[in-house]
Amino acid sequence: MYNTLKTIILGALLIFPLVSSAQSEMTGGDTSAKTVPFITLNNGVNMPIIGFGTYSLNGLIAENSVAEAISVGYRLIDTAMTYGNEESVGKGIKKSGIDREELFITTKLWVDDMGYEKVKKGFEASLKKLGVDYIDLYLIHRPRPYEDIKGSWQAMEELYEAGKIKAIGVSNFTTEQLEELLSYAKIKPVVNQIECHPFFHQAEEQASLQEKGVQMEAWSPLAGGRNDIFKNPVLSAIGKKHNKSSAQIALRWIIQRGIITIPRTSERAHMLENLNIFDFKLDDDDLKQIAGLDLNTTQFPEWH
Ligand SMILES: NC(=O)c1ccc[n+]([C@@H]2O[C@H](COP(=O)([O-])OP(=O)(O)OC[C@H]3O[C@@H](n4cnc5c(N)ncnc54)[C@H](OP(=O)(O)O)[C@@H]3O)[C@@H](O)[C@H]2O)c1
Repeated sequence: MYNTLKTIILGALLIFPLVSSAQSEMTGGDTSAKTVPFITLNNGVNMPIIGFGTYSLNGLIAENSVAEAISVGYRLIDTAMTYGNEESVGKGIKKSGIDREELFITTKLWVDDMGYEKVKKGFEASLKKLGVDYIDLYLIHRPRPYEDIKGSWQAMEELYEAGKIKAIGVSNFTTEQLEELLSYAKIKPVVNQIECHPFFHQAEEQASLQEKGVQMEAWSPLAGGRNDIFKNPVLSAIGKKHNKSSAQIALRWIIQRGIITIPRTSERAHMLENLNIFDFKLDDDDLKQIAGLDLNTTQFPEWH
């Protein structure tokens, strides 16, 4: 019932994007990127459906890209301790001049800081580097070391209860790993951030997460540029029909499934393009064609 209701509300938001907020100070003249719909997580917190990924952006590039992304309308920023860029991301946030409360900042607990004793130290280090006093969403980055997941989750629950984190979740968890965590969790994870793009649809994972009331978030929504995604003939043809790019088709397909996502770019034009996906809808024929692109396996074997 809850999921059906959520789907109806999200459908309405995607068709009538002006209902939502996350106001942009965009100056590029593209008004369609002015609003980004939110998804309400299972603890009542609202999270923008599209945000800005920062993997591999470092130093001044990370700082300026984050500031620019915020200036064109992004409010969700995704980083991680292991990206080594939390400090630069924090500087970009400051540079943007936007109020902290308007932003939704995600960072992630790395495997070196797993375990009840280490989590709080790792978390405080992330806070300090980012230059903020709370995190909107804190994720266990990987389910490793396996034996440390339980203690880590308990420490994260304590940080959540202390108000230092607005929402806690996981990343790269399989259904079985998530079910085990749910068996002892006092606080349910709000999100599982997993790989998802036109070459890896994760339909079964999505159904399983929906059943559990855990929101799916897609990492590498543009497959990190792999498989020649931007020249893919199927995505290009659908793009031509809607007067959109292949990247916009891939991103629209993800958010139209009710999945949150976080494309990364250091190009202002791409930042704008990736937000400009709320003024059209993929039809059944488009969806059927994209279904044919699923290779049903990771495109990042080196990360597994
Ligand atoms: N939890 C995890 O384990 C995990 C794993 C991987 C990623 N993530 C998160 O997910 C985010 C996104 O994934 P990702 O960084 O791997 O890759 P991605 O967003 O799938 O793709 C990024 C690539 O696409 C290009 N691009 C972006 N927009 C474009 C556009 N409109 N037209 C043409 N090219 C475009 C970028 O180049 P330009 O800079 O030239 O635009 C870049 O090379 C990460 O940054 C990170 O925050 C999480």
